[in-house]
Amino acid sequence: MKTKQIVLFASGSGSNVENIIRYFQDKPNVTIAMVLTNKRDAKVLERCNRLNISALYFNKTSFRETECVLDIIKCAKPDLIVLAGFLWKVPENIIKAFPNQIINIHPALLPKYGGKGMYGDNVHKAVKENKDSVSGITIHYVNEHYDEGAIIQQVETKILPNDTPDEIAAKVHALEYEYFPKVIEQLLMAQ
Ligand code: GAR
Repeated sequence: MKTKQIVLFASGSGSNVENIIRYFQDKPNVTIAMVLTNKRDAKVLERCNRLNISALYFNKTSFRETECVLDIIKCAKPDLIVLAGFLWKVPENIIKAFPNQIINIHPALLPKYGGKGMYGDNVHKAVKENKDSVSGITIHYVNEHYDEGAIIQQVETKILPNDTPDEIAAKVHALEYEYFPKVIEQLLMAQ
């Protein structure tokens, strides 16, 4: 069977990226082709260096106003593009070039807490402020609107009244680590 190629995008720490890399490390049918980041000093770059995975930084202009990033992705011939903690909106040229091949993970139960500005800790603080008793993760396809593509899987976790935003984040991260690599694998195997 041909090896499936994944291109990952991340903007910060990259703990999901590391988890995905480790999950597929011993699976010869899936390769992490490269990791792309929009932050020059993102911790994800250190992780990739340590794990011996190619990683590249790009800026806003090359992403939004040129075909540069698109060309780089095309070189990798990805079967799936995975946004794992990536905070910029994906431009139309990339979405059009890879229909139904770009997925994202969101740290809440969409459509709640989606849209511009709703990412990472902002989401968990909002969940806390609203005294929600449940939060979770949403894995979905990416379209031209923030957090609005078709949902692939949602998983819930209970939130206790005393949970701090950090504790909510830890619960949500645990779900991400458990479910995201498996969903990626299922999508690749179904292609
Ligand atoms: C993750 O919780 C992910 O769901 C979230 O950013 C975090 C990145 O953590 N993504 C979004 O908020 C996208 N709107 P990580 O860098 O440790 O993987």
